[in-house]
Amino acid sequence: MCGIIGYIGFRSAREVLLRGLKRLEYRGYDSAGVAIVNEGIKIEKRRGYIEKLKVNFDGTLGIGHTRWATHGVPEDRNAHPLTDCHGKIAIVHNGIIENHMELKNELAEKGHKFLSDTDSEVIAHLLEELYEGDLKKAFFRMIKKLKGSFAIAAIHADERRIMAAKMESPLVVGIGDHENFIASDIPAFLEYTNRVMVLKDGEICELTDDFVRIYDFEGNKRDKKVKKVEWSIENAEKSGYEHFMLKEIFEQPRAVDETLHSLFSRNDMNFDFSKVIIVACGTSYHAGLVGKYIMEELLHIPVEVYYASEYRYRPNVRDNALALFITQSGETADTLGAAKKAREEGLLTMAITNVLGSSITNYVEYVLYTHAGPEIGVAATKTFTAQLASLYYFAIQQAKIRGMIGMRRYRELINGLRKIPYKIENTLVRERRIIKEAEKISKKRDIFFIARSINYPIALEGALKMKEISYIHAEGYPAGELKHGPLALISSGVPVIALAPLDRTYEKMLSNIKEVAARGAYVIGISSQDEVEKYVNSWIKVPDVEPIFSPFVNVVVLQLLAYHTARILGREIDKPRNLAKSVTVE
Ligand code: G6P
Repeated sequence: MCGIIGYIGFRSAREVLLRGLKRLEYRGYDSAGVAIVNEGIKIEKRRGYIEKLKVNFDGTLGIGHTRWATHGVPEDRNAHPLTDCHGKIAIVHNGIIENHMELKNELAEKGHKFLSDTDSEVIAHLLEELYEGDLKKAFFRMIKKLKGSFAIAAIHADERRIMAAKMESPLVVGIGDHENFIASDIPAFLEYTNRVMVLKDGEICELTDDFVRIYDFEGNKRDKKVKKVEWSIENAEKSGYEHFMLKEIFEQPRAVDETLHSLFSRNDMNFDFSKVIIVACGTSYHAGLVGKYIMEELLHIPVEVYYASEYRYRPNVRDNALALFITQSGETADTLGAAKKAREEGLLTMAITNVLGSSITNYVEYVLYTHAGPEIGVAATKTFTAQLASLYYFAIQQAKIRGMIGMRRYRELINGLRKIPYKIENTLVRERRIIKEAEKISKKRDIFFIARSINYPIALEGALKMKEISYIHAEGYPAGELKHGPLALISSGVPVIALAPLDRTYEKMLSNIKEVAARGAYVIGISSQDEVEKYVNSWIKVPDVEPIFSPFVNVVVLQLLAYHTARILGREIDKPRNLAKSVTVE
């Protein structure tokens, strides 16, 4: 998983590439590099952050890469761009070349010398092998030999063009005047142009100073619409917040509002299914778990939730099910693999994603877009609440269509949903109170999150946020399960964060709070109910919402708690160690 960029035009390629790479850093950040054409190809690449690059050359044509290691440890020689034997061809690659061993052996037999441990290097040598004075021709011949997933950009020292190709890894083209861009994601070039073309799997792109041409792998030309991106580069920058994550937490009222607005106009949701299978990874999986509670409550049909990595390898099952894939990036390899399998099983398929034209949209029959805007922080926040908004809306619509709820209840629910952005705002104002708790728990070694019913997934999400950015060990549990094991870990001063909305499990939650308090836990209660204060060490009051909507306000408190705990500990919040935003490998 990596970010790639290419530029051809009249500006300083060094500046365009380095600025673009910075904006792609969320895709991986263990090594970086650029290659610029300037009397041959000059390369600077090394292990570490983009800031470590010392690019003391320039030109107007080049490619760049920011890496998240898959094949070959993060070392200078494994950083991209990678070259052929004579340094005439340079390539950058995001993805995995599955048949690289086979290709490498063939090429090595022909005398090619490999300098890295990467799978990607075969691309440069293959191009060299096939090159007969025309990079475009060589590229078309090369691409047919690759198996796997890739977004590739390639340049040749003697030619003024960039060749690029896409298969299961994202690639977008930016169209300028006498300049063109190619990158893994739009923010990489958005400060120069907002006219974009989103490439599909199986497409090749040729970029020169004055034109962009798209072909299929057979060389047939393809027409492609140029889209105008409405959001500005400022959206993709921190706007004064210390971290992207904090900015994104505060953007949630808008993310939910815009997502709901886009959905309110849709009335094409009349599907036939008697069961739902939700498939996702990470935070999106937790949104899926909330979706299960919502749909079972409103539709009274069974809902199964799978980790995509588990669903992929389960036996084929016959079902009249809707398979719903939740992926903010739309590029998570396991989720794409699972979607492919669901299609093979003949299931009705739908996706919820935040990225226009992302890979998942090519795998499913039906797409619901969240409108959270680009999310840069590795730990998902605003895309999670936007996913929840889509799930609620979808379930409420289905309940109405199926006659599970009457018009009165339908209006009540929709009105409740409309108020969520405002309720989130009223939760965000609790930040200072939350910081006080973060100060206390940042000194602890373990933290437990407990809840019941629809908030159980929120306890899981709170624990995930805490561990991924603060590196404190955190566990989420259904409160009723405490007595079957975790209670043994509760001793004096261990923080337990308890979510207690006024739903049908409220009394049971109070009992669980008393159970852990009796064992000396430091209990932080999150509830709209004043009474909770009596039973806990610290109470964070959240706005009153109908219990079914309580995940929205509770998760915001937990996001802020994780964020401030990590900030107090001085963690790299937007780029937690060993993690990446978009996991495009299995
Ligand atoms: C990575 C990210 C998580 C994200 C998960 C699923 O692990 O670090 O924040 O929840 O991938 O990503 P997706 O784009 O499929 O929602």
